[in-house]
Amino acid sequence: MNPAQLVMQRLDALAQVSEADGETTRFFASPAMRRANENVGLWMREAGMEVRVDAIGNLIGHYAGVTPDAKLLLLGSHLDTVRDAGKFDGPLGVLVAIACVQELNEKNQRLPFAIEVVGFGDEEGVRFQSTYLGSRALAGTFDTAELKRTDAHGVTMAQAIRAFGGNPDDIMSAKLDPNRVLGYVEVHIEQGPVLEQNNLPIGVVSAIAGQTRAQLVFAGEAGHAGTVPMGLRRDALCAAAAFVSKVESHAQDCAGLVATVGKLTVLPGASNVIPGEVQLSLDVRHAEDAVRVRACAELKALAEQIARARGMTLMFETVHQNPAVLCDRQLTSVMESAVRQQQCEVLSLPSGAGHDAAAMAAVTPVTMLFVRCKGGISHNPAESVMESDVGVTIEVVNQFLNGLAEGW
Ligand code: HGY
Ligand code: MN
Ligand code: MN
Repeated sequence: MNPAQLVMQRLDALAQVSEADGETTRFFASPAMRRANENVGLWMREAGMEVRVDAIGNLIGHYAGVTPDAKLLLLGSHLDTVRDAGKFDGPLGVLVAIACVQELNEKNQRLPFAIEVVGFGDEEGVRFQSTYLGSRALAGTFDTAELKRTDAHGVTMAQAIRAFGGNPDDIMSAKLDPNRVLGYVEVHIEQGPVLEQNNLPIGVVSAIAGQTRAQLVFAGEAGHAGTVPMGLRRDALCAAAAFVSKVESHAQDCAGLVATVGKLTVLPGASNVIPGEVQLSLDVRHAEDAVRVRACAELKALAEQIARARGMTLMFETVHQNPAVLCDRQLTSVMESAVRQQQCEVLSLPSGAGHDAAAMAAVTPVTMLFVRCKGGISHNPAESVMESDVGVTIEVVNQFLNGLAEGW
């Protein structure tokens, strides 16, 4: 079996590791994540790595360099998923990295730097409405105040980490020493249609868009659906619906802006009760931070205007935001040379999706490789990548490692 076939087989196996039957769902610090760490940890050991799990639950495989004090090059991505996910978003980057180390190990080859492959424990942020918990722990930007966040069952993040076997009091010790780290490399599916449209297996990422996540609550008045005249209602769902359509039109009118309401909860949630309260999420992204921040302020003002006009109250809380991040030019030029040896054209493209590289950029230079995915579909079980493109990707990363070692 060639390395690409092995990666595809392992992706299939990992996709079965889920907290729900018939779908791929693995949230931060869950039993499914523990099983995923066990599976991937085994593959790391088979590739000649020493394996550990850090205080927040990141899985880390270490492949020593020629000398014990060799600097570190990190490669990886995340092992957690969204709900009912595809099998490539996250795991592809971890398994390609393991495949490259496995090839070095089989040739008994050591590089002038050590390699650490990281399977981050929380990039999607579904369980605690966070993002990048794992990579922010390594970057030293983890905010310990977030340990008080609770999930849908009222479990705090600190309790979840302890139950997982981690140590919330020790997270800050996971921080990398920037002087010891050469850089971070992330292979990820594009999650967009550009590579497919250009008929290219891979592309190089120029920048990662900034993102803001907010939570809103429209509070009106619950009432009897049969007796309250329309003119006397304070229907929270009608207010939320007016806001959601404004979100869409606002983003449509601003080049490069994307805004999404992905989650909406109607309370009390009975067909014969006028909704008294609606909770909704808001996700806003743009390559330029100033545009994103301005759009968030405008959307907040629109929500306040809608609530006022309907005699309601509004709660608007920004729960998370990340600035746009540029990929490191020097590291990326090594990656571009490696790509050039596999495909004539080097296409450079920005990422609308967030990635652990965005958090890792706080501690070390980052570079990203995108892999073509069918129809750009992602965050969907229909996510699909060709085995031949995985083979090209493994070759490019191998070339990148050799290029970095030669330029040592
Ligand atoms: O939301 C994102 O961009 C990423 O998938 N976490
Ligand atoms: Mn991802
Ligand atoms: Mn994702």
